[in-house]
Amino acid sequence: MVELSADKKDKTFHEVDSALERLKSEKRLKGVEDRRVASEVFDKRTLEVLYKLSNTGYLAILDGVISTGKEANVFKGLDDNDNFVAVKIYRIATSDFRKMQYYIQGDPRFKVKMSNKRQIVHTWVNKEFRNLKRAYENGVRVPKPFVSRENILIMEFIGDIEGNPAPTLREAPPLYPEEMFNKIIYYMRLLYREARLVHGDLSAFNILNFDEEPVIIDISQAVVVDHPIAGELLERDIRNISRDFKRFGVSSTPQEIREKIID
Ligand SMILES: Nc1ncnc2c1ncn2[C@@H]1O[C@H](COP(=O)(O)OP(=O)(O)OP(=O)(O)O)[C@@H](O)[C@H]1O
Ligand SMILES: [Mg+2]
Repeated sequence: MVELSADKKDKTFHEVDSALERLKSEKRLKGVEDRRVASEVFDKRTLEVLYKLSNTGYLAILDGVISTGKEANVFKGLDDNDNFVAVKIYRIATSDFRKMQYYIQGDPRFKVKMSNKRQIVHTWVNKEFRNLKRAYENGVRVPKPFVSRENILIMEFIGDIEGNPAPTLREAPPLYPEEMFNKIIYYMRLLYREARLVHGDLSAFNILNFDEEPVIIDISQAVVVDHPIAGELLERDIRNISRDFKRFGVSSTPQEIREKIID
């Protein structure tokens, strides 16, 4: 998105607002009453993509904000069968293109013209979708990805039947730290050896505690194991997990963790 003059900005907000009203009147935006968040996330193009996605069966209603991050917002949604879904919407304007570019380059799965910022974000979201799929299909507990289009990704909602999202491990430390630790190491091993991916931003912030089962999220930056920065990212993931579990009372050295993952 280009920087808009105050005038144009006003007009754009106007358009977004009226588009939101349209969506709301079709009962697709029940619950997303926070206009500030809404107009911040839903630029015109994003609204169009939401419309298109509402024809896939995976998204009937957006029903509240789960998280407002730096680059993306995560919403709770309902699909055509009234099941909860998680809808991650990247904001083009506040995305870190340099970082995205850095991680996309060197990944043989992606060949993309890097001139256009919107295009970079779309590739990034597609990368997150494909990483999730690859992890999921290899037995790593991640949210099941359903569909992605442009800057929007729809995936399995991790939470209870009433629609409360699971807390992160940071917010809800494990009741049985040793068990939780072993499960996470097992998933890191599967991710590395079977899915052939390195997460690259793994820590207690990006693992949900779903009834004492770890669910790994936020996998957009993950790279294939033969990516030039894979080794560096794996070391960082290992150090983070070692450090976070030290706080939970499980002591391990990075060396021990590395052996469990790689050997
Ligand atoms: N599938 C999901 N089910 C339930 N909650 C989710 C799901 N995915 C993400 N969340 C919630 O949204 C938050 C942000 O998700 P995520 O980490 O993928 O985005 P992010 O862009 O890294 O945001 P942040 O900058 O806040 O870390 C998570 O901490 C979690 O609370
Ligand atoms: Mg995160």
